[in-house]
Amino acid sequence: MGSDGTKLAIIGAGAVGTAIAYASLIRGVARTVALMDINAKKVHAEVLDLSHGLEFVPRADVIGSDDVEVCRDADVVVFTAGAKQKPGQSRLDLADSTIAVTKASMPGVLEVAPDAVYIMVSNPVDLVTYAALKYSGLPRNQLFGSGTVLDSSRLRFSVAQYCGVAVQNVHAYIVGEHGDSEIPLWESATIGGMPLTAWEPLPGFDPLDENARNDIQHDVVSSAYTIIDGKGATNYAIGLATARIAEAVLRNEHRVMPISTIATGAGYEGIEDVCLSLPTLIDRRGAGERIRVPLSDSERQGLIDSANTLRDMQKRLGL
Ligand code: 2OP
Repeated sequence: MGSDGTKLAIIGAGAVGTAIAYASLIRGVARTVALMDINAKKVHAEVLDLSHGLEFVPRADVIGSDDVEVCRDADVVVFTAGAKQKPGQSRLDLADSTIAVTKASMPGVLEVAPDAVYIMVSNPVDLVTYAALKYSGLPRNQLFGSGTVLDSSRLRFSVAQYCGVAVQNVHAYIVGEHGDSEIPLWESATIGGMPLTAWEPLPGFDPLDENARNDIQHDVVSSAYTIIDGKGATNYAIGLATARIAEAVLRNEHRVMPISTIATGAGYEGIEDVCLSLPTLIDRRGAGERIRVPLSDSERQGLIDSANTLRDMQKRLGL
């Protein structure tokens, strides 16, 4: 499909895949949204339900099937298929089964959409991205993971709430693993153009001191567990985040987002041969250059520890 008839294909019509489809339709991300799932009855029902709202969104078509043919010539393919995190499980507990599903389903999709940009969303996303790069042979730019885009938006939301400003005025990244070892970059964060670490509280609000920052970090890292405990899955925010990433690709936005790509060490010494998130340029080619954000010593150490956690898991999984 060309730029005037963009096509977004989503593998997996579960809570996450359908939330991505729904968010993409509302935002007008692509002219065609294709859903693929091994459960034909479910995918048919989801396509009907989404199609019945097409009157209310920018012009689009929704198609779906249990046949991978539905993804043919997609410009962007999003992978959400895989094991579902149960209460008490960490993302890393899903590695074996999700990587097996990814390995089994990738060749068929690659055959019908060889030129697409691939966005991996299934967890543990960094390991799934590493495995998918290896199995597909695709270049680094063409396949990447949604990474910590969601975690960073959770961080921005929490800081915004705490300080009494709009979330759009907080610029802050979480880097590293999309999971328990992730690291917020406080030193480079800003609120309304002010360095976050020098933020003067607004009248009636508390100072954003180290204790407050630690509490926010704890809440952000544990928030997926809280949501999974309460409703069985997280889906709306990842749906919006992934739709926004796909939009940045399709509109060639050159937008900086913390997506998960293979680290080459460049600019981040000691972090190689592992997929993790760092602020990265996104354009029509997919993942572009990494942005070299200044890190404090503890942030650098945290990032190295996060990389080591992921590299250990890669070894254990034989990747
Ligand atoms: C999330 O962070 C569970 O990875 C999923 O919402």
